[in-house]
Amino acid sequence: MKIKNNQIYFGEIKAEELVEKFGSPLYVYDFDQIANNIERLKRAFKIVGLKIKIYYATKANSSLALLRFLKDKIEGIDASSPYEARISLEAGFSPHRIMITAPALTIEDLGYLLRKNIGINIDSFSQIDQIAKIVNFYRIGIRVNPLIEIGSHQHIRTGGKYSKFGIMPIKVTEAIKRAKNKGLEVNGLHCHAGSNWLAKDLITFKKITEVMTKTAQKAGKFTKLTYLDFGGGLGIPLKPKEKNFTTNQLVQYANIIKKSINKVKVKEARIEPGRFLIGDVGVLLTKVVHISKGEKPINVVIVDAGFNVFGRPFLYGAYHQIIVTTKANINKFHLKKYMIAGNLCESGDVFNASKKELRIMPILEENDILAILNTGAYGFSMSSQFNLRLRPAEVAIINGKDKLIRKKEDYQDLIKNQIA
Ligand SMILES: Cc1ncc(COP(=O)(O)O)c(C=O)c1O
Repeated sequence: MKIKNNQIYFGEIKAEELVEKFGSPLYVYDFDQIANNIERLKRAFKIVGLKIKIYYATKANSSLALLRFLKDKIEGIDASSPYEARISLEAGFSPHRIMITAPALTIEDLGYLLRKNIGINIDSFSQIDQIAKIVNFYRIGIRVNPLIEIGSHQHIRTGGKYSKFGIMPIKVTEAIKRAKNKGLEVNGLHCHAGSNWLAKDLITFKKITEVMTKTAQKAGKFTKLTYLDFGGGLGIPLKPKEKNFTTNQLVQYANIIKKSINKVKVKEARIEPGRFLIGDVGVLLTKVVHISKGEKPINVVIVDAGFNVFGRPFLYGAYHQIIVTTKANINKFHLKKYMIAGNLCESGDVFNASKKELRIMPILEENDILAILNTGAYGFSMSSQFNLRLRPAEVAIINGKDKLIRKKEDYQDLIKNQIA
C-alpha cells in the first residue's frame, strides 16, 4: 500500500477502483509485502547463525490462496484445528510440514490427524491417553505452559496460572513417561505464551524461553527431543506511538532462541508467527453509509462493515488506524472527531478502540471509503454472519495486480444449511 496525492494505492490501483470492482466491504492483502516480512525474520536468524523453521499460524488468516503463496517460502504450518490442517494439505503442504496444537481434539479429529500423519503437540494428559487408544505408536510434541504470560490483551495471553493451555513444566516428565507407557514417543516441546507483543516485551520472552530451556534439559533425560518450538506472538505496531521491530531487535529475538537451542542441543528450532507475517499487509476497505447531521450528541459515521467482518476493536479494544482513501494525508484537510461505527445492531460495534475514543478524521462524506489498517491477521479468519450480514470478498495484490481470492457471500450462503 502506498499514498500518492492523498490517495491510497495498491500497486498502481486506487483503493476506490478495487471497491468499484469487487464491492464493499473488501479485504485487500498485499502479498508482495508478505515475502518481505518473511525475509526480515529469516535475515535476523541468519545473522545469529541459527537455521529457523517457520511454521505459519494458519489461524491468523486461512485463505487457500495465501497458503499456496506461502508454500515455497516457509517450512510449514501450525494448525489449530483439523480443517486448518486439511486446507494446508490442499494448499500443497505435505503432512510432515504440518503440526497441530489445539486444546480440543475429538476422537474423530485425532483419527483424521493420525491417519494423515500430521504432527501433534499435545495439550493435555487426556490427549495422550486418547491418541494411545487409536494407535500403537506415534511421535508427539508437548505444549508447555511456562506459567508466564505475554501479549497485548488478556484474551490472547496463553501462558500463566489461569490458562487452559498446555502442561506445567513440573508435569512434563510425567507426560513423557505417560506417553512412553502407552507406546508414544515425545520428540518435541512447544510453547506459545501469548500474542501481539513488541520489542519492549523481549525481556519477558527471554524469561519464557529460559523456562523452556530448563524444561527441555530435564525432559532430555527421559526422551530424545528433536525440536523446540517457540510459538508465535511477534506483534506489529497498531497505536500511533508503537514501533515495529527493528532489525536489531529481531536479532535479539533470534539470539534468545539460539541460546536456548545451544543449551538443549536439539536439531530443530521452530517458530509459529501469524500476525507478524500477514497482519500489516491487510487493509479492510469499507464505505461510509450514513453521517449524523447534528441529531446525535457526537459525530457518528456508520460504515457498511461491522464486527462480524473485523472484530478486533470489539473483542480486544484494539486500536487500528483508519484512513480515508481519498484524503490520506490528514494534515491537508479540515478535521473533526468521529465515532466510526459498524452496521450491526450492537452498541459496541465501533471501529474506534472504544466508544469514547473518538477519531480525528478529515471531514467525512457519505460514500467516502475508509481503510482500516493492519487487518490482515485475525480479520477475515474471525468473521461471522451475525445479524445476517455477509462476509466480504478478499483480494490479493500480487506483482502489483489484483486477484480475487474469495468471493463475497450472498443470501444463499446465509441460508444454505438451514432446515425449515
Ligand atoms: C499455538 C499458537 N501458535 C501461534 C500463534 C500465532 O500467534 P501470532 O499470530 O500472535 O504470531 C497462536 C495464536 O494464538 C497460537 O495459539
